[in-house]
Amino acid sequence: MHPVTLSKTPYLRPLTSLAILAVSLGVVLSACSSGGGETPSASGSVLYAANCARCHGSQGEGIIGPSLAGVAQTFPEEDGQIAFVSNGGGGMPRFSASLSKADIKAIVEYTRSTFK
Ligand code: HEC
Repeated sequence: MHPVTLSKTPYLRPLTSLAILAVSLGVVLSACSSGGGETPSASGSVLYAANCARCHGSQGEGIIGPSLAGVAQTFPEEDGQIAFVSNGGGGMPRFSASLSKADIKAIVEYTRSTFK
């Protein structure tokens, strides 16, 4: 029947654009959520620059404090490095009072994944 096939075509277009809209909305939403604290390296790099770079260098090359290159080998366990940064020692300030546990964890994860 001609009237039926004719009326089908105009219906397809809004549905198709709706589907495209839904897909692009999903992409935008997932991009937002992954940038909002799930990825520690984003805030970790900012926190590192603010708290550590003056002694360890913006690239972890070392200034007053030692180079952090290969820090994941120095501290095979992430927890050990978190404890060290929290407690300090030997010229390294303690950060447990000035930074939250989550912030220290974010910085530590940033240094482990960035300075190799
Ligand atoms: C005032 C300067 C200073 C600041 C700021 C500083 N550090 Fe340090 N850091 C040091 C010194 C000095 C040492 C060496 C301590 C030692 O040898 O016992 C050190 C050692 C370290 C070590 C051990 C490295 C190794 O190879 O043994 C790590 C990891 C570290 N710092 C991470 C950080 C992080 C993360 C921050 C920021 C939250 C930070 N430091 C801020 C001075 C600093």
